[in-house]
Formats: sequence, C-alpha cells, structure tokens
Amino acid sequence: MAAKGEILELKRNSSSSNNWDRIVNEVVKIEKRLFPKHESLARSFEEELRKKNTGLLYLELDGEVVGYVMYSWPSSLCASITKLAVKESCQRQGHGGSLLRAAIQKCRERKVQRVSLHVDPLRAPAMNLYKKSGFQVDSLIKGYYSSDRDAYRMFLDFDAD
Ligand SMILES: CC(C)(COP(=O)(O)OP(=O)(O)OC[C@H]1O[C@@H](n2cnc3c(N)ncnc32)[C@H](O)[C@@H]1OP(=O)(O)O)[C@@H](O)C(=O)NCCC(=O)NCCS
Repeated sequence: MAAKGEILELKRNSSSSNNWDRIVNEVVKIEKRLFPKHESLARSFEEELRKKNTGLLYLELDGEVVGYVMYSWPSSLCASITKLAVKESCQRQGHGGSLLRAAIQKCRERKVQRVSLHVDPLRAPAMNLYKKSGFQVDSLIKGYYSSDRDAYRMFLDFDAD
C-alpha cells in the first residue's frame, strides 16, 4: 500500500498484474462518475493505457485511488495531457494541481518542447487550473467532443534548456 498521498506511476510490466487491474478498476470508476459518455475513456481505458508512449500517474490516499492523470508523447515533437480527474470528495485540496505538475514533469523529461491538451470551456475548474499552471488557449475546436460540445486546445511551451 502506498504512503499517504503518494503520486505513483502505473507500470506496464508491474510484477503484480493484480495491482494493474485494481488501479484500472478504480480509475474507471472515477472516470464513469465524472465524465459524460462522449468524454469518457471508461470503456477504452485499458486499451489507451497499453498504447506505446502513454503514461498514467495516480494518487493514492490511504490505499484508495483518488485521482489520476494520463499523458502521452507520440513523438519527441510534442506531448499531451489526455485525462485529469480527482474524485469529487477529494477535490479542492490541491491534488489536481499536484497531478498536473507531475505529468508536466514527465513530459519535460521526454525532451518535448510543448504540452497540449483539450478541455471543454464549460469545465471552469479545469480551465482555471490549466491557466494557473501556465497553459494558454490556442484555438476553439468546434464540435470536438460531440456535435454540440466544443473544446479549447491549450498549450504550454517549455523554455529551451
Ligand atoms: C479539474 C480537477 C481535476 C481539479 O482538481 P482539484 O484537485 O480540485 O484541483 P486543485 O485543488 O489542485 O485546484 C487547483 C486550481 O484549480 C482551480 N479550481 C479547482 N476547483 C475549482 C472550482 N470548483 N472552481 C473554480 N476553480 C477551481 C483553481 O484555480 C484552483 O486553484 P486555487 O485552489 O488556488 O483557487 C477536478 O475539478 C476534476 O476532476 N474535475 C472533473 C474532471 C475534469 O473536468 N477534468 C478535466 C478534463 S480536461
């Protein structure tokens, strides 16, 4: 069991497949509660996770998964944050910010210059968090999630080291 409030990485070749199953099940449970079907990865989470160049960080509190962030780096050119969520009862305690920072750090280690993401403009908490973390709006993508749900594409550029 993880120490209190630890951000961990889900390992593909985890020695215990039970751990993989448990984490994925808990993540999918949160995913189902927080996202409508058209935005949810609940049905394809495992498939997404098994893709090359995709990572998942999760936050465990007292042995329970309470938040997660998924990210991917399709090439050395760019990376994206593909999911971020914190269980309702644990929101507004800084966990979303911690998970996002940890994922940004993982992307930085991949030597990419830019991290991008999509967010529904109606998701005010997420918009605030992304702006506060330095992301800027690139453009509005009409009908991104469904015919009547748009998305902002946002990006964060790293300074050249
Ligand atoms: C977005 C989300 C992950 C934030 O998680 P969280 O643990 O509550 O975030 P934090 O406590 O770290 O808050 C960080 C910042 O986010 C913003 N924020 C978080 N909740 C907010 C709210 N209810 N209203 C307005 N701003 C909010 C604030 O800027 C906050 O900083 P502050 O506390 O200094 O004001 C969480 O609200 C969530 O899971 N939402 C549903 C899923 C979702 O929308 N995911 C993003 C999809 S792209």
